[in-house]
Amino acid sequence: MRRGTAIFLLINLIIVGFLINACSTLISLLFEDASADAIPRSDIPDPGSDLTGNRPQLIPKIIHQTYINSSIPAQWKAGQQACIDLHPDYEYKLWTDEMSRKFIATEYPSFLKTFNEYNYPIQRADSIRYFVLAHYGGIYIDLDDGCARKLDPLLSYPAWLRRTIPTGISNDAMGSVPQHPFFLKVIQSLDSYNRNWAMPYITVMYSTGPLFLSVIWKQYIGKTHPEAERVRVLMPDEYAKQPWSFFNIAKGSSWHGKDAQTIFWMGQHWLLLTVLGFVAAGILGSCLWWVWTTWLSQGSQTRGRKKFSFWRSSSRDRYELLNRIA
Ligand SMILES: *[C@@H]1O[C@H](CO)[C@@H](O)[C@H](O)[C@H]1NC(C)=O
Repeated sequence: MRRGTAIFLLINLIIVGFLINACSTLISLLFEDASADAIPRSDIPDPGSDLTGNRPQLIPKIIHQTYINSSIPAQWKAGQQACIDLHPDYEYKLWTDEMSRKFIATEYPSFLKTFNEYNYPIQRADSIRYFVLAHYGGIYIDLDDGCARKLDPLLSYPAWLRRTIPTGISNDAMGSVPQHPFFLKVIQSLDSYNRNWAMPYITVMYSTGPLFLSVIWKQYIGKTHPEAERVRVLMPDEYAKQPWSFFNIAKGSSWHGKDAQTIFWMGQHWLLLTVLGFVAAGILGSCLWWVWTTWLSQGSQTRGRKKFSFWRSSSRDRYELLNRIA
């Protein structure tokens, strides 16, 4: 093989290797079905049953929700009221923007700058829920999810997240004991994931949202943990649409902007996009190859003599070089 070709291939291999390594958690996330940590249906008694009476209660009885201020929009009032009414023995905390900022300023002052400087309000709404769970423990529920039954059976795990199909986990319903190592890792990771990815949807998803949380979760479950530090996973039938489900989660996503539509469209057309991706990579590779060979031959024309001594190592190379100069 010509030395030029070998160097070209080597550079390309290094770039591809670097990209695969950078995306390895994302790629492995696609193949993670969470079955090892799933909360089994048999753990969930029917609503109204008191079978959970003899299980330990680990998570404190606190429900956290967030909104800009205390004027909840009409369409979410019923869901909020259902959560409050079903849980008279729970503390209920609605984290308004003002309360959230004060809480961060008092308890996590080193995060205040990042918190204040997030470009999108949803990034503050995302991050505050991780901090209150790490700090107080309890159950966080998105205002638009509502409660379908009492949450007591979910208090007997040290922490749990909600599975999303086809991949990853969501941050719209989560439970945890205070100071759980997973949520400590989450709040410690926020600063380093605070990057701008050009598209608002991706920036939000990957800096504070479900994609960020899924990646941290995938890293966390890569190691084995003692029972008290495990993170369990609530599967689809247990959170919506069944008589024994806990919530009324109906939405696909909280975002409806152009970016979100683009992403969903991409999800539906992944085969076409994969083929296009290979075609684009082929075209890009050919262009790079053309630039590389042009550069090599120009180099040998303008600095022929110097190049000649550089390429002298084997007579075959020299022959090729002479050929090219001529
Ligand atoms: C709460 O926020 C909404 C939306 O920004 C606003 O319309 C409303 O006036 C606010 N209510 C109070 C009590 O500040």
